[in-house]
Amino acid sequence: MSKFYSVAIDGPSGAGKSTIAKMCAEKFGFLYVDTGAIYRSVGVAVRNAGLGSKDEAGVISMLPSIEIAMRHDENGLQRMILNDKDVTNEIRLPEISIYASDVSAMPAVRSFLLEKQREFAKTSNVIMDGRDIGTVVLPDADVKIFLTATSEERALRRFEELQLRGTKTTYDEVLRDITYRDMNDSTRAAAPLRPAEGAVILDTTGNTLTQSFEMICVLIEEKMSR
Ligand code: DC
Repeated sequence: MSKFYSVAIDGPSGAGKSTIAKMCAEKFGFLYVDTGAIYRSVGVAVRNAGLGSKDEAGVISMLPSIEIAMRHDENGLQRMILNDKDVTNEIRLPEISIYASDVSAMPAVRSFLLEKQREFAKTSNVIMDGRDIGTVVLPDADVKIFLTATSEERALRRFEELQLRGTKTTYDEVLRDITYRDMNDSTRAAAPLRPAEGAVILDTTGNTLTQSFEMICVLIEEKMSR
């Protein structure tokens, strides 16, 4: 039986999960799956349908009409397609962060997306990042990492990233958004954000990106050499 490797990276927003996961995917030739982008795509569908982010009954009734596909462009970048429309840029809007966080607390949304996420790990070596990859989506992942940093440092990193993208916002707004989402994502009943059993907890406060990347590479290499 062929065995694919899987690496699960969980943690709060702005911890550097996606940047580091992308770098690792490139180094090891694994498929990178940004599961936050999948929840964000549901957030876009809900917002565009004119529903409020907490309208659970409305969201449940529209789930059957939501079709989400993920593909990788020629540069290996993940693109999100929602009902045949490319929403890769739209999902990054700050208001969509709140929609994604709110809809992700709904058990119906989580089960709607669960199998879609597991499918990736059945056909390829994967590095998947999110909030519940090591706890729920891939509990048997070969490497589990819980990546975190102080909320102030995460807000600063996210603020700088949004500025580079030309999104108008302030540091205080980003810190408020991160604090709201930390609370939402870790206190919800359905698959709350927490370190998985057996996860290595990495606090990257004060680390450079390269330092955190190298620490994770060592963990992956150790596993693959066994
Ligand atoms: O990683 P992100 O910031 O793009 O994720 C957006 C939201 O989606 C986040 O606030 C919580 C939710 N999410 C989740 O509940 N489970 C995941 N595996 C990934 C994201």
